[in-house]
Amino acid sequence: MKKKILVINGPNMNLLGEREPDIYGKKSLKEIEGELAGLCGEAGIEVEFFQSNHEGAIVDKIGEAKGKVGCIIINPAAFTHTSVAIRDALSAVKIPAIEVHLSNIYGREDFRKHSYVAGVAQGQIAGFGAYSYILAFHAAKEMLI
Ligand code: DQA
Repeated sequence: MKKKILVINGPNMNLLGEREPDIYGKKSLKEIEGELAGLCGEAGIEVEFFQSNHEGAIVDKIGEAKGKVGCIIINPAAFTHTSVAIRDALSAVKIPAIEVHLSNIYGREDFRKHSYVAGVAQGQIAGFGAYSYILAFHAAKEMLI
């Protein structure tokens, strides 16, 4: 398995830090990515970051990862609750994926309680703010050994 993690963030995640900080916290995506880069560096794991507000761009990125990436950490953001295409892309490439959410999607509006991605992910981490990504890194590291 390739010792590389691809971290994908979906729509509006570029606004983290400013966007509803009471729900999503005050850290920017760049800060979270910096922490993950540090942890991956220490662990000798290559990492690539990708954020897009466009569903098709995320589908393309997942497709391109086939054979190049050992694990995908993905916060599909709003596409979690709408995208059969992202689910199918993850299913097609057969790369183990860890679904991440900053907020506890099960404690919010009803429309957030269903994830299209969950059924094809290795597992899901939700509700720990930016620390959800750190927990996902540790899970990914275990899978890459
Ligand atoms: C989110 C939860 C989603 O419901 C929401 O649309 C987001 C962020 C989270 O990280 O908590 O954009 O994925």
